[in-house]
Amino acid sequence: MRFKLNTLIGASALALLVSGCAAPTAQSTASAPAPAVAVAAAPAVAPASVQPAATLPHVVVLATGGTIAGAGASAANSATYAAAKVPVDKLLAGLPELGSVARVSGEQVFQIASESFTNDNLLTLARRVSELAKQPGVDGIVVTHGTDTLEETGFFLNLVVHTNKPIVMVGSMRPGTALSADGALNLFDAVSVAASKDAMSKGVLVTMNDEIQTARDVSKLVNIKTEAFKSQWGPLGMVVEGKNYWFRAPVKRHTAWSEFNIDNISTLPPVEIVYSYGNVPPTAIQALGQSGVKAIVHAGTGNGSVPNRIVPELQKLRAQGVQIIRSSRVPAGFVLRNAEQPDDKYDWVVAHDLNPQKARLLAAVALATTNDSRELQRIFWDY
Ligand code: DGL
Repeated sequence: MRFKLNTLIGASALALLVSGCAAPTAQSTASAPAPAVAVAAAPAVAPASVQPAATLPHVVVLATGGTIAGAGASAANSATYAAAKVPVDKLLAGLPELGSVARVSGEQVFQIASESFTNDNLLTLARRVSELAKQPGVDGIVVTHGTDTLEETGFFLNLVVHTNKPIVMVGSMRPGTALSADGALNLFDAVSVAASKDAMSKGVLVTMNDEIQTARDVSKLVNIKTEAFKSQWGPLGMVVEGKNYWFRAPVKRHTAWSEFNIDNISTLPPVEIVYSYGNVPPTAIQALGQSGVKAIVHAGTGNGSVPNRIVPELQKLRAQGVQIIRSSRVPAGFVLRNAEQPDDKYDWVVAHDLNPQKARLLAAVALATTNDSRELQRIFWDY
């Protein structure tokens, strides 16, 4: 019994030692300090496959910055840190387990916090992804990215990169220096999914918090938890210990199925968003109208409602050739055509279930090919 009791105390002492907060137990205060013990190394990650390394799929990691490359002053800093500090080679070197699922190479495309992304950043990144996807020696691509605009970049790539190869977006909510950092497992999952044949032809994916989401549907709905990314239509599946578990597949057009191609897009026309709320003045809409926008996305209340004092302002711009797209500030549901507003009569477009920031990107890509509002509405139904 004693042996067993000692064993239990030993185990709890080891656990406390490992956790760095060992408190003296009866034995350690009465006798010599508990002997230092070698903490068993974490069990090697079960390789997703027993393939020889040279035959594993080749995954390219394109790093752009964000928290997954962030660093805080102490392990207790899970939310206060500097984003976009750790270079891609250090990120990959810190995760040797990647070698069990893929042959990985890395490129530092940018080193920025994602709230600072511009249209030019999107075009540069999409061109590099497209170039790599065309290379026979590349089996999958991972993009490490800040979480703030990860959904926008992922949706944009989903629209314009013509490939069936897996493209996986990944970020983290905590820097790698923090207790219970989420970036390492998120990155391992992303590379594992990007190396998987069963992830092909599913459009651009996002791996966060063990889930596999589609870039089209997912958005950052919580700004300070690791379970930050949600889709109202649910994840496509989960990835656990290097294995994918799929439960649904996308139905909207994407990647190789898209009519849009980054190879034919040199610039994105100006499309901006106005946010609606009680007492909103027409100032922003008027200023945007004078700035030469090609479309305005109206982030309306409820089902895309527009205040009665704002309707004539939007009609004025429509008459000048500016496209008007009704989205909603409400994160779930979808905007119904001709419900809150007579869209047929006003010749407006509805964004369906796309949030304002994604509606902006689809409108910008579509306006590079058409300015016909009925064609624009067809595009919003299809993507
Ligand atoms: N500055 C934010 C960004 O780069 C940090 C958030 C994150 O990456 O998780 O998106």
